[in-house]
Amino acid sequence: MKLKVIILAAGKGTRMKSEKPKVLFNVAGKPMIDYVVKVAEALNSEEIAVVVGSHSENVIKHLEGKNITFVEQSEQRGTGHAVMCASKIFSKFDGKILILCGDMPLVTYDTLKKFIEKSMESELSFISVKTDNPAGYGRVVRSADKKVLKIVEEKDANENEKRITEINTGIYLVDAKVLSERLSNLSNRNAQNEYYLTDIIKGGEDVYLADDEKEFMGINDKFQLSCASKILYKNRAISHMRSGVEIIDFENCYIDEDVFIGVDTVIYPNVYIQGNSKIGKNCTIYPGVRVVDSVIEDGCEIKDNCLITNSFVGKKSIIGPMAHLRPDTFLSGNNKIGNFVETKKAKIGENSKASHLTYLGDCEIGKDVNVGCGTITCNYDGISKHKTFIGDSVFVGSDVQFVAPVSIGSDSLIGAGSTITKDVPPGALAVARAEQRNIEGWVKKWRDRKKKKEND
Ligand code: UD1
Ligand code: MG
Repeated sequence: MKLKVIILAAGKGTRMKSEKPKVLFNVAGKPMIDYVVKVAEALNSEEIAVVVGSHSENVIKHLEGKNITFVEQSEQRGTGHAVMCASKIFSKFDGKILILCGDMPLVTYDTLKKFIEKSMESELSFISVKTDNPAGYGRVVRSADKKVLKIVEEKDANENEKRITEINTGIYLVDAKVLSERLSNLSNRNAQNEYYLTDIIKGGEDVYLADDEKEFMGINDKFQLSCASKILYKNRAISHMRSGVEIIDFENCYIDEDVFIGVDTVIYPNVYIQGNSKIGKNCTIYPGVRVVDSVIEDGCEIKDNCLITNSFVGKKSIIGPMAHLRPDTFLSGNNKIGNFVETKKAKIGENSKASHLTYLGDCEIGKDVNVGCGTITCNYDGISKHKTFIGDSVFVGSDVQFVAPVSIGSDSLIGAGSTITKDVPPGALAVARAEQRNIEGWVKKWRDRKKKKEND
């Protein structure tokens, strides 16, 4: 069967109350149009066309690189008008056209496949579904003998029609030729003065009554956006649990579509794992953690409230609480990055630790290094960034500043409170602080002097 897909995405999304095109809003971590394009691609059609508005440069930019024909609908005059604008896709085509809306991210490939198979013989068919909450959707009006008569939009429906619980999902499969004919007969005499695509249904058409209403949720406002995200996040959590991940509260766990998580990893509530992240097995991810485009290897413990972006955390490392691993942090394994430690472009060898209140930026640190509390790599001189190199088995005392560029030889010891501006040779002790003086009896003398002045 010859098939082309048209995705409607030109609507202004007025109900979103936003400058941003509706189809670019994220649903469970990804713009809603991406889900629709993904199922359309899976159907192996001859062509996928996306109808965009004149205000939708960002939509085109977002979908750049995909094999998509863009069609512009410069004025938003309704869903029927949107399909008319795409006439070049079907006017000379002798196959079927599948019409999808860009605002229904939950629809699955399996459902569309079944619908197409079932509707192969009919010249025009659409998917309907029953719902307890039909508000906002077009209602499917049927005759006494259950034949489809028409679809009526909520704004045009009378009280009886509003009580109908079977709704139009907005998904149609139609012979290209029939589509052209029916579109040429549309009018905009209705409550919204729009050309409704629903009016291509004139009575007697086939309907595919689907069973899972959730799949056909149209996202029109920010409440529906949140509801759709919740459904997807929950489905993903369930699928991870079924593959062996332990999730403490599956309704409070936000995992993006392409994330992998190994078995026996435990995920606490309010955790976000985003983008292209991969979490190994036997890890524990405590509450409030966000992992973005990062790899966490097996057996790591990420304690409460850490942010990890574009980083690699080697096996058996312990991070946080409240650590910030910024892009290009590379921890070789068995590392400890403790509370209030920030890393960036930091390559850190095995078994090295920075347990408290430290900034490690633009640095290479060897293995078995201990970085004391309050250490800072001073990497920025106001114009450019410089690197700090620290060899293996170095002990860095507390409150040390490394003024980069600087290189610290292996096995050396940096005295607490030092500001290191010169390279340190291997095995050396470096101390760079004023020497301590103790002046005996000074305090009493000073207090007596003060008291005397006050009494004078
Ligand atoms: C539409 C259907 C309704 C159905 C519901 C399912 C019509 C008239 N109504 O209503 O029967 O129950 O979807 O979710 O078709 N669009 C354009 N150009 C336009 C207008 C809309 O491209 O001029 C696009 C939108 O970007 C959106 C889709 O078409 O992706 C649907 O438009 P929307 O305004 O959301 O229609 P609904 O009111 O939800
Ligand atoms: Mg809609």
